[in-house]
Amino acid sequence: MILTDYQHYVRETVDQYLVDKIDALPEHAKHLKDAMAYTLLIGGKRMRPFLVFATGEMLGIAKQDLIGPAAAIEAIHAYSLVHDDLPAMDDDELRRGHPTCHIKFDEATAILAGDALQTLAFEILCECELSSHLGNKRIDLVKILSQSAGYLGMCGGQAMDLAATNKQIKQAELEDLHSKKTGALINACVAMAISLADSIALKDSQTLTQYAAIIGLAFQVQDDILDVVSDSETLGKPQGSDLALNKSTYPALLGLQHAQDYLHELHQQALQALRALPYNTHILESFTDFIIQRKY
Ligand code: IPE
Ligand code: IPE
Ligand code: MG
Ligand code: MG
Ligand code: MG
Repeated sequence: MILTDYQHYVRETVDQYLVDKIDALPEHAKHLKDAMAYTLLIGGKRMRPFLVFATGEMLGIAKQDLIGPAAAIEAIHAYSLVHDDLPAMDDDELRRGHPTCHIKFDEATAILAGDALQTLAFEILCECELSSHLGNKRIDLVKILSQSAGYLGMCGGQAMDLAATNKQIKQAELEDLHSKKTGALINACVAMAISLADSIALKDSQTLTQYAAIIGLAFQVQDDILDVVSDSETLGKPQGSDLALNKSTYPALLGLQHAQDYLHELHQQALQALRALPYNTHILESFTDFIIQRKY
């Protein structure tokens, strides 16, 4: 299957699952429900669900068992974007080509929508359909997602990002920051797929984990580069936001050319990790090219 068909399939499957979840909510807080639906469904590339599916199917896991984990991670990601855009954080007004949640609704609603999307993710992991032999894996899924979203992962990374604003930090610190704020959730996609796999050699699970760490970092390096070289219409979010806020980014630290060279190096490392795996890595190779060469 070519990449775009597979992307389309993942988007349709995960979005339908999320729409059903939101539709089923009662209407005692209609404004909040609308903000959650808005946040989840106005757009986005669905890269994390894609990675759950591509890795999971490569490891022989049934599609049906991947929908819940993929939807849960997208809910966490959507929440992270809503909070990232708040005035107290990046103070951005455009997301996925539309007004950010706090602009479309209001700040209190955006905070609550983020909170409720976060808990929705764990509700999904607790109740999603899983084949009977995987029932005992739920707790592992919850642990992976909670650790990658919390202090050890995304939230910790976001705090480091805020602390590194208006400062020059060392490259090793920037790498740690990026690996947490963005890499951790990308790692979780692969880690959840590994945890559902029937049998995977330790060596291969280590290689896949290493692959996830490389593309997680690369994803944020390219995000930083796009903030410099792209435009708001293509990105669907405000170009130049990092510069305006004096954020610690790869282009700010290394200069644009060196940041691009570093991205190229990470791209090669990621493909090399895939080549070491005894699976059909065709879809993951295309995915790697896509996330590194993406224009938005
Ligand atoms: C944006 O993520 C935030 C980062 C972690 C860099 P994406 O580029 O995956 O955003 P969407 O989901 O496509 O909107
Ligand atoms: C945010 O990184 C990563 C998150 C945890 C949401 P950025 O602040 O660079 O993401 P964008 O550029 O606003 O999408
Ligand atoms: Mg940010
Ligand atoms: Mg931001
Ligand atoms: Mg960014």
